[in-house]
Amino acid sequence: MSKAAQLRALLDGDGPVLAAGAHNGIGAALARRAGYDAVWASGLEISAAHGLPDIGLLGMSDFLQAARTMDNASSLPVIADCDTGFGGEANVAYAVSSYEAAGIAAVCFEDKVFPKRNSFAEERHQELVTIGEFSRKIRAAKGAQSSPDLVIIARTEALIAGAGMDEALRRADAFAAAGADVILIHSKAKEKTQIEEFLDRWSGGLPVAIVPTTYPDWTVADAYEAGASLIIHANQGLRATVTAVQATFETMIAAGCPRPVESRIATVADIFELQNMEYWLELGA
Ligand code: SPV
Ligand code: MG
Repeated sequence: MSKAAQLRALLDGDGPVLAAGAHNGIGAALARRAGYDAVWASGLEISAAHGLPDIGLLGMSDFLQAARTMDNASSLPVIADCDTGFGGEANVAYAVSSYEAAGIAAVCFEDKVFPKRNSFAEERHQELVTIGEFSRKIRAAKGAQSSPDLVIIARTEALIAGAGMDEALRRADAFAAAGADVILIHSKAKEKTQIEEFLDRWSGGLPVAIVPTTYPDWTVADAYEAGASLIIHANQGLRATVTAVQATFETMIAAGCPRPVESRIATVADIFELQNMEYWLELGA
C-alpha cells in the first residue's frame, strides 16, 4: 500500500489522525517513535532549519528535498506544506507531480498571495488571493495527480487574514467544490472557539484539518469530537529543539566542559537507533 493510500485509510478510519511537524529525517523518526500517525513537513520548520524566515524564500526543490528526506527516514506518511504552490497553476501542477513521484502522501496549498508570510506574522502581512484564483490552483492540483490516492489539502487563511468566518466558510465550500480532499482551517485565536464555530457551521462533507498552536489546550480527543479529523502539532518539535540546544550550549560554555549536560541529553547509542544504523551495517556486512 502506498503511503498516500495509508493516509487515506487513516482519514477514512474511526479516529483522529495526528501529525507532528518536522524538518529533517531525525524529526520524522522521532514523530514515529512517539506514536504520531503522520509527519507534517512544515514550511516554518524547513525555513528555520535553513536559518531563514517562513516568507517564501525557499523554492520547491528545497521543500521537496526536505519532504523526501523525512519520507525516507520514517515509515509514516508525509503531509507536505507547499505554501502557496510556488507560483501559479502550472507551478502547482508541477509540485503535485514532483511530490507524488517522490512518494509523498499529501500536499497542502494555502490561499495566500505569493510570497506568503508565516501565519503568525502580523495581520497586515496576510493577503488572500481570490476564491477564483485559488480554486483554479486546486483544480490544477487535482488534474496533475496520477493516482487518486494522493491527498490534496486546501488550506484557507481567511481567519488568519482577518477576513471573517463567513469568508472562511465560503472559501471552504469553493475549495471543496474545486476537488480538494481535505480542508485545513487555520486560526491564531487564543481560544478554540473560532475553530469550533467553523466546525459547527461547515457542512462540506470533507475531513477538516486544524493546527492548534495558539489554542494548545485542546486535546486531540476533544478536537476530533468537535469534528476535526487531522490535527497537526506543527512546530512544537522545533521549538523544543531550540530550547534544549540553547540551554545545553549555554551550560557547557558556563561549565567549561560537557559534564553537566551528559545525563540530560540523548546517548550516542540512541542516535544510532534513530539512524537505523544496525540495518545499514547489516547491509554492508
Ligand atoms: C507550518 O508549519 O509551516 C505551517 C503552520 O504552515 S503555521 O506555521 O502555523 O503557519
Ligand atoms: Mg507553513
